[in-house]
Parts: sequence; C-alpha cells; structure tokens
Amino acid sequence: MIYFDNSATTRPYKEVLDTFVKVNEQFYANPASIHEAGVEVNELLDRARMQVADIFNTEEKCVIFTAGGTESNNLAIFGVSKANTHKGKHIITTKIEHASVLEAVKSLEKDGFEVDYLDVDETGTISLEDLKQRVRKDTVLVSIMHVNNEIGAIQPIEEAGQIIHENSRAVFHVDAVQSFGKLPIKFNGDKGPDIITVSGHKIHGLKGSGVIVFRQKLNIIPLILGGGQEFGLRSGTVAVPQAIAFAKAARITVENAQAIQSKYKKWHEDLMKFLTGFGEVIHLLSTKFGADHILSFSVKDLKGEILINALQERGIIVSTSSACSSKQKTTSHVVTAINVAPKFKDGVIRLSFGAFNTDEEIEKFKEEFAKVIKDLKGVNYK
Ligand SMILES: Cc1ncc(COP(=O)(O)O)c(C=O)c1O
Repeated sequence: MIYFDNSATTRPYKEVLDTFVKVNEQFYANPASIHEAGVEVNELLDRARMQVADIFNTEEKCVIFTAGGTESNNLAIFGVSKANTHKGKHIITTKIEHASVLEAVKSLEKDGFEVDYLDVDETGTISLEDLKQRVRKDTVLVSIMHVNNEIGAIQPIEEAGQIIHENSRAVFHVDAVQSFGKLPIKFNGDKGPDIITVSGHKIHGLKGSGVIVFRQKLNIIPLILGGGQEFGLRSGTVAVPQAIAFAKAARITVENAQAIQSKYKKWHEDLMKFLTGFGEVIHLLSTKFGADHILSFSVKDLKGEILINALQERGIIVSTSSACSSKQKTTSHVVTAINVAPKFKDGVIRLSFGAFNTDEEIEKFKEEFAKVIKDLKGVNYK
C-alpha cells in the first residue's frame, strides 16, 4: 500500500512505539504518588515536558499534555474566552479553520460572543489589512491556523502576531497541527503566537496524544476539572506513556525536519508540474506558496470518491479534501471559501506526504494516476 494520507494521520515511528511500550511496562506508577515509583515516573514526565518546552522556546510550566489537537484547540478557545469576559467578548478566526476551532467558536457565539470570520483569497490566505481592521479593544482571542489541512495554505503568523499584539490585548492562538515539523513555529515574544497547539498522531506519534503550549502563563480556565493535574488545566491521571511518546515523536520530527522537508518540496514541485500537464482537466487548489506536504487538486466534473476508489484499486491511498471529517457529503467549507468553480467542487482530492514516503512511490503515483485518468475519460468526465 502506498499511503498518501498523512494529514489525516501518520504511521507512528518505531522508536515512539518502543518508548510507549517500555513506559507502560516499567513506569506505570501514578506520577502524582509520593512513593519512589511515582516520583520516578514524575521525573520522566518532567523530562518530556522540558523537551517539549525547549522545542517551542518556552518554560516547562507552559506545556500541558492533552489527548490531541481537538482537545488542545478546545482548551485554547473556551479556556481563554471564558476566562477573559471582563475584557470583552469578541473573537477573530478564519473561515478555513479546522472543525475543532470552528465548532468551538460557534458554540461561544450562542453564548453571546461576537465572532469575526476572516475571508481568504483563492490561495487560501487571509488579508493582514483585513485582520488589522477587525482587531478591537474588546477582542479577547484571535485563532488562526498555521497550515490548512485541506489545501496546505500557509498563513502569515508572525505578521499577524505583530498586528494583534500592537493593536489589542487579545491572546493569539495558532493551530499548528498541520505545520509542526514542516515549518518553523515557536514563540517569538510579541511577534508571534501566545498559544500553539499540536497533535501527536500527525507527526508519527500516537493517537490520543497532543499538547497545548503557552508563551507565558495566561489567564485560562480548564475544560476538565478534578484532581488539578497539569497545573490545574487538565485534571485526570496523566497519560504518561502518551506524553513521553509525544515528546519522542516531536524530537524526532524536529531532528529530521530539514531532510524530510527537502523531499516534500521536491515531490510537491514535481507533482504540480505533472498535474499541470493535464491541462484544463485538472485544477490545482494547492499553490507553490503553500506547505509542501499537502497537494490538493480536482478533476473536472468528477466525484472525488471515484478517483479515490480507482487509485485504491491500484494500491494508492489518498483522501478527499477534508482530513478528519472526509465522510461529509457537503462541499467542504475550505473549498467554498477559496471559490473553486462548480465543475471542480466535487472532485477535490488530497495527497499528503509523510516521513515514510519514497521517491519510488511518487513515480508509481504518476504512472497509475495517468492510467486512471485515461480509463475514466469519456466514462466519468468529458
Ligand atoms: C488543522 C487541524 N487541527 C486540528 C485537528 C484535530 O486534531 P486531532 O485529530 O488530534 O484531534 C486536525 C486533524 O486533522 C487538523 O488537521
């Protein structure tokens, strides 16, 4: 099987799996227990936290282990908004965020918050001028994703951060689930984010693991109440094996980032050129300005599922436009936001690369895709 659905989820690194098993077998005590075994586990947890803090250029007390991107995004959005109602009830986000952000802000709208959804252009990028116009004194939160999961569009995070911090007291959250390890993202004083969220299973770590990381201590309220673990922000016995496995995956990802990124860049350029060769039959939703690990395109008048099935029969796994909710039947909100022409709306498919992909797989894809397009021509599209 050739797996090109790494933005949906990735195969864990062997080292990550080994770490997970080892911690479960040998270090299963509760890190909150005061006996020796608990203290030892707590030290391991502290070390993992320190490693993650180092990666993002922050302090250990600013790293909270969670169960993944959705939980981290929910904590950022609900936690910050609800803790700062005395400052205001205005939120800014974009029209192309992941559902874990959009559904959270929609729920806050029902509770009386006012939300501005930034438009994007046809490349999927926000306008900084638009952002500047909308930031207000009572804006408490701005949530902008770094890399879009469906088309790979990259947002100008540093510039956005500067505008937000110069013009408001708002907290700036960046969903870095699709960018971590592919583009540099860390805290950079007033020039960047205040909160970064990352998911383990998108970086060859484990499902059920992730982090929310803060630039500095923030006014935020927890979603999960109980024993006060994770500095009171995420109660419940800490899933130490997941946390340590996350730190491992994050470290390997950062160590390999440059080498892997240059492969993605080569493949992205190569496939963009290859697909452009099909002329007006194919419309590229990803651009050369976007992230290199995501390549999204559409075949004229063709349903995405038909292409996915045809490729699957040839051993190649790709996905429709939406990563985590690709079973949805309606046109994706991202495809709508970038104004894709109707004849290309239903046929969007996405290839997303991971650390295990190879040059040979890219060549195989080109070969098989050309055959599929030839076979489907005249049957499924004109
Ligand atoms: C941009 C983005 N944010 C958040 C998530 C949710 O992450 P998780 O699956 O870890 O809950 C995803 C998942 O696809 C994503 O692509």
